[in-house]
Amino acid sequence: MKKSPLNLLTVASVISQKTTMNQLTSIILTASVVGVAAISSGCSQPEPAEQNAPEYGLVTADDANEDIGTYVLPQDTSILDEPNADEIFYGKRLLNETKRLLPEHVGAQMNCNSCHISQGKVPLGDPYINSYNTYPRVMPRSGKEIDLTKRINGCFQRSMNGKPLNPESSEMLAMIAYMKWLSQNTPKEQKVDIQNAGKVDESLTPNPTRGEQIYKAQCETCHGDNGEGIKDSRGDIVFPPLWGDESFNIGAGMARTYKAAAFVKYNMPMGIQTKGLWGHGNVLSDQDAVDVAHFFTHQPRPDFAGKVNDWPNGKKPKDARY
Ligand code: HEC
Ligand code: HEC
Repeated sequence: MKKSPLNLLTVASVISQKTTMNQLTSIILTASVVGVAAISSGCSQPEPAEQNAPEYGLVTADDANEDIGTYVLPQDTSILDEPNADEIFYGKRLLNETKRLLPEHVGAQMNCNSCHISQGKVPLGDPYINSYNTYPRVMPRSGKEIDLTKRINGCFQRSMNGKPLNPESSEMLAMIAYMKWLSQNTPKEQKVDIQNAGKVDESLTPNPTRGEQIYKAQCETCHGDNGEGIKDSRGDIVFPPLWGDESFNIGAGMARTYKAAAFVKYNMPMGIQTKGLWGHGNVLSDQDAVDVAHFFTHQPRPDFAGKVNDWPNGKKPKDARY
């Protein structure tokens, strides 16, 4: 199947000319429609499913260098082969359309996959690939052992500025079913050899004035003059907000300068890279990423009542907001 680098190129060059938002939205929608067309024409000329699928090594906690196998990123069509295909597809929809499907639980104009890039399939873009095998684990922020339902509810309460789901609800179980499918039966004590987040130099001092300039030049077209993002005519999210009442709250990982910088450096601005998956950034320097991240994380955003319970055992990171 041919990827569509030309479409991404078009988007990138149009953005650099700072087009109007309506034009940009329609170009991006066109790009994704072309992507869908390419997938369906792929079906008429069958190719091995794995052909262009990224592969990664597997590692154990004891020996990260031992060669113990290969993980192949699955294609969504292979969900159909699973006995609980309906549940996995429901989980996939919930992660993509969280705000629309679970309005009672989501306060922000945000879907899970606003931050978990390409449905949690991209290294350095907060992937879900290892999530099923990573939990339960002790998290420094809560000082407790957290299972996957609690980890997901942490994102509901902080990143989505919303309310937790019942851990036994069909919605929670469906999201976990998607993450389990994405792990492709990797044995529990093993992990796929990828990083959830990239590195930025945390010794850099942020310059908020420069950050604002970078925001205006590189981010504002999609994320709005006031960080409010862009919705379509139905009110659904096209570009998620970076600050204000409809953004993540101060308890979110994304509210921390260096965590946000690491995300931005490797994932934003979208559509500039001309090859690879939609969502790869890598055009900003570490200093650029730290500056722009400091700028948007420190704009007004909702408070988080549960903040009083965080980091009970100390070790609070230097960029924590409270
Ligand atoms: C504002 C951005 C944002 C949103 C929205 C968001 N998350 Fe997260 N999520 C993060 C960040 C950042 C991390 C930490 C990743 C890391 O560095 O390990 C994270 C971590 C996770 C993890 C643990 C990953 C792992 O393998 O350790 C899971 C699971 C998760 N989120 C699920 C969700 C779900 C489900 C939703 C929607 C209800 C959601 N997230 C919404 C930013 C977000
Ligand atoms: C071409 C449009 C575009 C540009 C330019 C862009 N983004 Fe994004 N951004 C997106 C989209 C779309 C998402 C949601 C992820 C998805 O749908 O795959 C997103 C998500 C985010 C998120 C996580 C979700 C949230 O709302 O907090 C952050 C943080 C972010 N972008 C920061 C930036 C920064 C900083 C810049 C400039 C350096 C930037 N973006 C430039 C389109 C863009």
